[in-house]
Amino acid sequence: MDFKTQVTGASGLAGVGADALLILVASGAVPEGLDAPLADVLAAAVKEGDFAFKNGQTLYAHRVAGVKAQRVVFAHLADASSKTLRKALSLALAYVKSGGAKNLAVAMSGGLWSTAQAEALVAAVSEATYLYRHTKPSAPAPAKLAAVSVICAKADATALGAALRRGQAIAEGTTLAKECANRPANHCTPSYLAEQAKKLGKDHGLKVEVLERKDCEKLGMGSFLAVAQGSDEPLKFIVARWNGGARNDAPIVLVGKGITFDTGGISLKPAPEMDEMKYDMGGAASVLGTLKAVAQLKAKVNLIGIIPACENMPSGRAIKPGDVVTSLSGQTIEILNTDAEGRLILCDALTYAERFKPAAVVDIATLTGACVIALGHHRSGLFSSDDALAAELLAAGEQGQDLAWRMPLDDEYEEGLKTSFADVANVGGRPGGAITAAMFLKRFTAKLRWAHLDVAGTAWKSGLAKGATGRPVPLLTHFVLARAG
Ligand code: BES
Ligand code: MN
Ligand code: ZN
Repeated sequence: MDFKTQVTGASGLAGVGADALLILVASGAVPEGLDAPLADVLAAAVKEGDFAFKNGQTLYAHRVAGVKAQRVVFAHLADASSKTLRKALSLALAYVKSGGAKNLAVAMSGGLWSTAQAEALVAAVSEATYLYRHTKPSAPAPAKLAAVSVICAKADATALGAALRRGQAIAEGTTLAKECANRPANHCTPSYLAEQAKKLGKDHGLKVEVLERKDCEKLGMGSFLAVAQGSDEPLKFIVARWNGGARNDAPIVLVGKGITFDTGGISLKPAPEMDEMKYDMGGAASVLGTLKAVAQLKAKVNLIGIIPACENMPSGRAIKPGDVVTSLSGQTIEILNTDAEGRLILCDALTYAERFKPAAVVDIATLTGACVIALGHHRSGLFSSDDALAAELLAAGEQGQDLAWRMPLDDEYEEGLKTSFADVANVGGRPGGAITAAMFLKRFTAKLRWAHLDVAGTAWKSGLAKGATGRPVPLLTHFVLARAG
């Protein structure tokens, strides 16, 4: 999809040459200055009770006399927020996305575009036109829509153009994350994730290194190796670097949980909905997506993505409840529940991150069902003992319309992780499960400025429109771009 700005000509909106014209109505009455043929249609619809100036109102008209575009859609905006814009667009795009229109012009009438709105427009179009088809040849043909232009004033074109480019990079990163997480686990294996990282490297100039089992053994990643040992699929430990900053700039490190399938291991999960555990690499997918967006924008920042990738399987070689392993940090871990595997692979990756002397480390993981219970599917769980870092991430979530909510990390929550048989156990009790998981990770971050995002509830949509969301690529990209200055 191609996005660009287009400055309104003397002939106004009625003269815009596009297959479809979408007019966002940002006023409480028929906008002043709207060309007569368009204003007449809208005024008639208002008079006849078919359009009101309130949220969620749309109107479609085909081949309006005196209007160059064959298709016209009006959609009301009650306020200037990106959230309102996204909702209005998702309704309005339903009229044109599967029709014959190849190019769409979007205009703001009765108001002016903000850069946030331009960025949100890209997200909305990308969301509305995405369809998973990799393993479904019978999926409907892709939408014909290929180009979107934002009609704006000359003075705004530069800023809006930059916002569209940023939005497009984020949308492409989000789509990559969706594609990976939607792929079934027999397609999206640890090796597949490593290939995707290498492909990103080739296409965008990232340095990509993939550690194999032997390398991880040499390093002493006993905890990551323990989870991987139950699977016949070879593990991959992926390190991808975008060197956009100065040589001496401390990098930002993103660590993504890359469990390509989580059966629970010997602590086997129940059968219903176990299929959804193919998205247990959603954190890893968001790291790849963010790398793609940041590299595409050539951001002046050093960014490193680390992805420990393996399957969590039950087998004759699998870890058993009660097994004690030695992590890369030297701390021993009693694995009381093999289904709490995410933290076991992340702790070694966090220790590995120390070698980069990072400015900040953020791990992203579909870590706990408890986080889904706590926050539902709307906001990701954010954990950090660093107030400044937490504030940056929350703000980035607001900017990207990809919200998070801060959760506590009081020492008291660590109680449950005590055991007589190792330095730490991998599970506490059920209460506050998302927090105990974060407390476990915290033990491995003493030398880091660290934050953790639990995206178990936000990386995936259940129900009829089941599938990956690509979150939190928008949050992470905004976070990294803000640091790039
Ligand atoms: N991958 C799951 C968490 C998860 C659950 C993600 C539901 C998305 C939706 C994780 O590995 C897991 O199994 N966590 C356990 C932890 C428990 C054993 C302490 C959980 O949440 O039940
Ligand atoms: Mn699990
Ligand atoms: Zn898991």
